[in-house]
Amino acid sequence: MFQRYMDSQYRRPTGLVGQWIGRKMLQQHQPENRWTVNLLDIQPTDRVLEIGFGPGFAIQQVAKLAFQGFVAGVDFSKAMVSAASKLNADAIDTGRLEIHHGDAERLPFADSTFNKAFSIHSIYFWTNPAAALREMWRVLEPDGTVVLTILPKERWNEADPDAPVGTPECKPYTGAELSVMLTQAGFTSTAIKSDANREYRSNYSVVARK
Ligand SMILES: C[S@@+](CC[C@H](N)C(=O)[O-])C[C@H]1O[C@@H](n2cnc3c(N)ncnc32)[C@H](O)[C@@H]1O
Repeated sequence: MFQRYMDSQYRRPTGLVGQWIGRKMLQQHQPENRWTVNLLDIQPTDRVLEIGFGPGFAIQQVAKLAFQGFVAGVDFSKAMVSAASKLNADAIDTGRLEIHHGDAERLPFADSTFNKAFSIHSIYFWTNPAAALREMWRVLEPDGTVVLTILPKERWNEADPDAPVGTPECKPYTGAELSVMLTQAGFTSTAIKSDANREYRSNYSVVARK
């Protein structure tokens, strides 16, 4: 019961609890946010999209690196849109960063708008991940890069790998499952990247190209 409530808050933070979860994620998820930004190898003129930005740490880092480019984020939690907008007020003012309230399944961008797209700890919560991945494919330009960072399913309960994990609100995936889903959405060259230091269990990403 409590686990389902917490999953629903991580899925879509709302109200005061959601604001508290946002502050917690801002600290807790910094290693995998930095890991993902590093994998993306952001260049000054890159056009980058993040789905499910939460409190907005990764887009803050990306906007600093893509200082001649354009960064956009989409998240369906109003509480996170508000938190990320505050954290990134300066970059938003310059026009280099756009924060959108919206759903991964319907991205408010034209085809081929971005050359890089990513998402961190969010795909477990998507109702229709196949539709959302097709949307990411659509808004990326040919040869664009996608990076999906997750805590892979086999690491959710390492003490008992056969125990069922997830809830109706939250569906963990293995890297192999995500690779198949990315291929079905039209991506190629899928590869799994993971940190040799197992202390950082969520420094684990599936990378692919359009
Ligand atoms: C667990 S939080 C992770 C936040 C952030 N990426 C981080 O690493 O701290 C998941 C985020 O994904 C967002 N999210 C979940 N499903 C979504 C969807 N279908 N469309 C857009 N955002 C979604 C939630 O609102 C939440 O902010």
